[in-house]
Amino acid sequence: MNLPSAVYQERVKAETLKQDAAQQKIVFMLDQLCKSLATYQPAVHSAGGMFGALKSIWQKPIQPPKGLYLVGSVGRGKSMLMDLFYAQVPVQYKIRTHFHIFMQETYKRFHVLKQQSGKGGDPIPTLARELAQKAWLLCFDEFQINDIADAVLLGRLFEQLFALGVVVVATSNVRIENLFQNRPGADAFKPFIKILSQQMNEVELNAAQDYRLGRSENEQRWLIPCTMHNKEQLDHVFLRESHGVPEKEEMLLVMGRKLNIPHAAGDVARFKFADLCDVALGVGDYLALAQRFKTIILDDIPVFNPENVNVIERFTMLIDVLYEQNVKLYVSAETDFEHIYRKEDRRSFFERTISRLNEMQGQNWGNVARAV
Ligand SMILES: Nc1ncnc2c1ncn2[C@@H]1O[C@H](COP(=O)(O)OP(=O)(O)O)[C@@H](O)[C@H]1O
Ligand SMILES: [Mg+2]
Repeated sequence: MNLPSAVYQERVKAETLKQDAAQQKIVFMLDQLCKSLATYQPAVHSAGGMFGALKSIWQKPIQPPKGLYLVGSVGRGKSMLMDLFYAQVPVQYKIRTHFHIFMQETYKRFHVLKQQSGKGGDPIPTLARELAQKAWLLCFDEFQINDIADAVLLGRLFEQLFALGVVVVATSNVRIENLFQNRPGADAFKPFIKILSQQMNEVELNAAQDYRLGRSENEQRWLIPCTMHNKEQLDHVFLRESHGVPEKEEMLLVMGRKLNIPHAAGDVARFKFADLCDVALGVGDYLALAQRFKTIILDDIPVFNPENVNVIERFTMLIDVLYEQNVKLYVSAETDFEHIYRKEDRRSFFERTISRLNEMQGQNWGNVARAV
């Protein structure tokens, strides 16, 4: 087994990471957890068959190792450290997920089970067992409790997961004791806070700096081509820019008409290219979007058909508006913006679009107010 500390040191040596004493401290804790997990076998996963069944009857259940709850402000390396741990930990049945994605999937499954179990049935035990069988090491990025429904579901689900011997590692911006506090219903959540504190060691990561700032490598905003991989990158951008606000459908009123935004979360919205540029939308709609959202993600920008001038003009208009409003634009496209509209067909107005798109790739575009 390659311990997290070995990998961390390799990366420091290769200068992809800067040595950071606070991170180093966490890395050693992750080493310890890796070692404990290497020999741990939760009851729910003890080998099947007679022997396994007998063993689980006769043996006292083994106390699971305590998980880790990594708390700290943004950019300190919490997710990086958890990913490093996740990659090394010698556990076969493990899951690493963003907390929003986990919640979405959990609600979906909860409702299916609820229907199956009928009125008065309780889907939580089944839900917990299914999950524990799939993975008994759960790693959550950006753990948070958004509303009372989350609080109620998670409180019961986690109680059962822990009882089944599941181990949880999480990153968060919020201390355990402050999860879902100062809100209606918070008192009912107190027992869950106690359980979380018993099952996880809470450690604060006081890394020396916010490693997001002054990062040297440029984050790509125009991703080619439109592959699953690139769309997953954009999923991450969506989650990051939503700052923990759950995704929902939204409606904007533009001059008395309704403009539907299928994927919105906080200040970020995501569209398919065709849904913005191949339908009867105009500058008023684009302006409403640009004023409402700081970040827009656009999927599947094709190579333009020169015959389809409407689409090209709409795209130009969209870029003009996003540029004027200093909106961050992330896309998946078939090719780079110099080539989505072939030079030999190109109308002169598109040169401006290219120049603006060029400027909008800058690392600080949309992050700081533009000098006028
Ligand atoms: N010691 C380090 N040296 C260089 N870059 C780092 C270091 N720690 C973290 N980073 C980078 O800084 C960025 C922010 O880290 P991340 O793990 O996302 O922070 P957090 O989850 O705490 O917000 C990532 O790109 C990460 O790879
Ligand atoms: Mg993070």
